Amino acid sequence: MEYTKYTKEQWKGSVITSPLPPTLVTCGSMDKPNVFTVAWTGILCTQPPVTYISVRPERYSHELITQSGEFVINLPTRELVKAVDWCGVKTGRKVDKFKEMHLTAEPSAKVSAPLLAQSPVNIECKVREVVSLGTHDMFIADIVGLDVAKELLDEKGKLCLDKAGLLAYAHGEYYGLGKKLGTFGYSVRKKKNNKNIRKGK
Ligand SMILES: Cc1cc2nc3c(=O)[nH]c(=O)nc-3n(C[C@H](O)[C@H](O)[C@H](O)COP(=O)(O)O)c2cc1C
Repeated sequence: MEYTKYTKEQWKGSVITSPLPPTLVTCGSMDKPNVFTVAWTGILCTQPPVTYISVRPERYSHELITQSGEFVINLPTRELVKAVDWCGVKTGRKVDKFKEMHLTAEPSAKVSAPLLAQSPVNIECKVREVVSLGTHDMFIADIVGLDVAKELLDEKGKLCLDKAGLLAYAHGEYYGLGKKLGTFGYSVRKKKNNKNIRKGK
């Protein structure tokens, strides 16, 4: 098999890692919840489970997360794409984004920040460290709780995220995920013995 090879030109360093999940981060309290869009997020460590979000200090949400030390990362789906964009251009200082976008804040299990009921996966986080990097402060946080949609669990309890219709964000554009191309470790996995299948074993 021949791969495509590209000829390059040098650009100055920039932030183009793609695709990323354009997550909806909830913060504040059940009394006064806020939600905003965060694409600068990811996993830092498996055990203990540690994540981060990078947030500009001028954001209203930055103030709320600094006060409580807690937030929830909610994975976005196709049907939330308009809310993802809208919550990323409007400020909770001026509008109730839950009300305007018909979203529902629900209590989280482990943190005071609410979770987003319309998201199938909610990652409950407690800030452990803040790193000021320049335009953004990175909130490094322990994942202290994880809420997954019962609707996406199969009979063995496996989470079928392929059924969630997750969103991706690449270079300023929103996408739905495409066709599944493989699974973890498939490139080295032994093929099933088809002879037995043919023999009806
Ligand atoms: C797709 C998308 C991704 C965004 N990612 C981030 C991010 O990673 N960090 C950040 O500080 N702001 C990000 N923003 C901008 C904030 O979501 C936006 O400024 C929002 O209005 C802040 O809301 P708040 O004032 O209620 O906190 C993003 C916006 C969009 C549309």
